[in-house]
Formats: sequence, structure tokens, C-alpha cells
Amino acid sequence: MSPQPTTAPTAKEQGARESLTITDNRTGKTYEVPISAGAIRAMDLRQIKTDADDFGLMTYDPAFMNTASTRSSITYIDGDKGILRYRGYPIEQLAEESTYLETAYLILNGELPTAAQYQDWEYKILHRTFLHENIKTHMEAFRYDAHPMGMFISSVAALSTYYPDSAQISDPESRLIQIIRLIAKVPTLAAFSYRHHRGLPYVYPDNDLSYTGNFLRMLDMMTQVKYEPDPVKARALDVLFILHADHEQNCGTNAMRAIGSSHVDPYSAMAGAAAALYGPLHGGANEEVLKMLTQIGNIKNVPAFIDKVKKGEGRLMGFGHRVYKNYDPRAKIIKRTADQVFRTTGVNPLLEIALELERIALQDEYFVSRKLYPNVDFYSGLIYQAMGFPVAFFPVLFAIPRTVGWLAQWVEMLQDPDQKIARPRQLYTGYDARPYVPLYARGNGHA
Ligand code: CMC
Repeated sequence: MSPQPTTAPTAKEQGARESLTITDNRTGKTYEVPISAGAIRAMDLRQIKTDADDFGLMTYDPAFMNTASTRSSITYIDGDKGILRYRGYPIEQLAEESTYLETAYLILNGELPTAAQYQDWEYKILHRTFLHENIKTHMEAFRYDAHPMGMFISSVAALSTYYPDSAQISDPESRLIQIIRLIAKVPTLAAFSYRHHRGLPYVYPDNDLSYTGNFLRMLDMMTQVKYEPDPVKARALDVLFILHADHEQNCGTNAMRAIGSSHVDPYSAMAGAAAALYGPLHGGANEEVLKMLTQIGNIKNVPAFIDKVKKGEGRLMGFGHRVYKNYDPRAKIIKRTADQVFRTTGVNPLLEIALELERIALQDEYFVSRKLYPNVDFYSGLIYQAMGFPVAFFPVLFAIPRTVGWLAQWVEMLQDPDQKIARPRQLYTGYDARPYVPLYARGNGHA
């Protein structure tokens, strides 16, 4: 009988402990810190001191590059493999088979709804779409050319003044009412901001239509007696909404959790999250992509533009991601959805430039070595533009579906016994104590 191949025993089989041993070379002392789920607790480092007066060791991690701020069971991302799942379900399957409202239920509750649960959920959302009439007065007070995202953020914050009961953040029933209100009303707020931006009268919701069908109607309705939403556009929006519903601890979600950790109401917290999303490095990137493509103007200018980016003169917007070091799975789905939309709307002329940028970037050493791939924002703007949305409206189209992600993460944070008010430490680099100098004694300038 030939000898059986043997494999070396793993460290675990050899009885290795799930811990980290740290030697502080300043003192020669050794500490053992437990490892759980691939992480150590930063607070376990506090015991590492040079003497009794020492505050204890901290970690320095600007921008949370390697710090998990929470445990979460909502969204899973494997950035190297390009995987995105909500509550375990692959994004590709949800985009193919689900609707935004069903996915929203899943994200909030952890399970797909039964038929009865879905019916009840859909009914509740579709029958809370109206806004208090005074919201219209707020909206009308904005300048004629106000950015729709600025209007959206302020109006979300203003909603807290209409629902003072939302301060009851420890009451699960009150939380659910605010969640339903927010998911139901953000399309109406968004549509009012759009109509204001275009100088058009506001259109009230039609609760007989689907979530995205009603949204399209509030945007487009002019003098029709009965508005019929275009089913291709409504479905494309549904898919885009599914793709944008949550994305674990991104900048906006981190803002939602941090603001919510002070126990403020969800409208105020969500206004802050939406403000974070507005930035050009985050949800504002889709707007920047369109500006960039328009500026490039012609496919023959693409190589010169890429050269400028490589010299550090600007970024290739819609490329790169903190977590994905592979093709963003959402970008793949969006590219397919774009083909379907372009069949009814006609191809966006900027598509040619985008495809050429992608082709060159995916084989250029600069982008390859830095693992820079198209992200969700690279193609979404092209679809939105083909559907007739103005560029300034793109971040709002991101904020509507992200509402459910923000709210699910907010509830998870409130229910997590590990969480407290978010309050990072700093490494102080300023002056040591020095005496105040009266004005007359300060001379003409600082020494
Ligand atoms: N174009 C050119 N170079 C880039 C880009 C880009 N889009 N993104 C990153 N780099 C370079 C960067 O200059 C750096 O190079 P070096 O090592 O030589 O200094 C390297 O790649 C690493 O970049 P980083 O800035 O350290 O990476 P980050 O994880 O801090 O930033 C990012 C992530 C998304 C902010 C960044 O990739 C970026 O600015 N992308 C363009 C904006 C964008 O498309 N944002 C949407 C993100 S997805 C949706 C969302 O979050 O809302």
C-alpha cells in the first residue's frame, strides 16, 4: 500500500490561540489581546501604558482605512472578488428578480416578505406618499435655480418639524412609522425639487401607481388626463434603486450612524447622511462623470484626458473605490440596464466616450496597478441622462433608494449594545499650555 499523503496540521489544529501577543518595546512588557472575527478591539490596547499616568495606546486611522466601526448583518461586500449581497442574497439575483420595495423590506427586516407581508408593506408605502402642504411653501422659497440636492437635504431635515413624535427613537412602533414615512415621501420631495428646478408646477402623488411609476409621473406629468408611466423606464429605475439601496459602511451611512448615535430623530440624521452623499467623491460622482464626459467631448480627446489624469491633473470620475479592487458588480448590471434603456430612448452620445475611457483605463498600467475599475457611478449618469433627467438631479436619484439602507443601518445601530455616541479620539499636535497675551501686548504680528 502506498503511503497516504499527509498535510501539515493547521495552526488551529496545533492548538493555536485566537489572540495576538504584543510586546511593547518601550517597557519590555508583553500583552495578549483576543482576536474575534479577524479583529482586535481597539479598547484592548488601552492597557498598554508606559507608566500609570500614560493614557494608554490608541490606534491612528484617519478615514477608517482599517477600522471596523460596527458589526452588521445587512450588506456583505467582498471588494477583491466584486461580490455584493443584501442579507445574503446576491445583488445580481435581486436586480433580475426583485423590486425595489421588496428589496427594501428585505434590507430592513432581514428576510424576503411573504405575499401577505409584501402586500401590506407596499400598501403602507404607497399610501404615505403625500407631503404636508407647508412643505410646498418651503420648496417655493428656494431660488429658481437652486440645486435639487440642496433642496432635498433641507426638506428631509424640515420633515422632523412636522413629526415631533419621531424623537421617540427608542419606541420600535414610532421608528417603523418614521421609516415608512421616509421611504414613502422621499420620491415626492425629490420630484418637488425637480419641478422647482425646472420651473414647473408640483404634481401630487398617484397612489394607484407603482413606487417608480408614481415617481416618473410626479416628474413628467404635464397635461395628460391619465399618465401612463413607460414600463421600460419604470423597471430601469427599479433596478437602479435596488443597486443603490445599501452599501455597508460608506461615507453617507457612516454619517447616518454617527449622527443617529446622538439619539437625534431619523429625519435630522438622514439629512446629514444625504449631505455626505452629495459630495463629488461619493454620490455626487455620477454628476461629475457626466460633466467629465461632456468636457472630453469627443472620443479622439480620450487619450489626452487619460494622460492628464495620470499626471495627477484631476481624477477619472466613476473609477476607483475604497472597497472594490475589482469591477464593481453594480456597474456590470447598470451597463446591461443601459442597453435596455437606450433601445427605447436612443443611445446617449456620451456612451462612446465612456466605453473608450473604460477600454483604455482597463489596460493602462496606472489604473491596473492601482486596481481602479468602473464603479456604480460610471454608467448610471448615462442612463439618467438618456431618460431625460438633468445632471443636477443625479445625486437625488441616488438618495431616494439609499434611504432604506440608511434607516436599516440606523435601527441596527440603535439596537446594538456595543454602540455608544460616536466620538473618535485625536492625536493633539498643537501648542502646549501658554498664557493669554492681552491685545495691547501682542505687537504687530505673531513671532
Ligand atoms: N482617477 C485617478 N486616480 C485615482 C482615482 C481616479 N478615479 N481613484 C484613485 N486614484 C489613485 C489615487 O491618486 C492614488 O494614487 P497614488 O497611490 O499614486 O497616490 C490611488 O489611486 C489610491 O487612491 P485613494 O484616493 O487613496 O483611494 P481611496 O480609497 O481613498 O478613494 C475614491 C476612493 C472612490 C474616493 C477614489 O477612487 C475617487 O476619488 N474616485 C473618483 C470619484 C468616484 O468615482 N467616486 C464614487 C465612488 S463609488 C459610489 C459612492 O461611494 O458613492
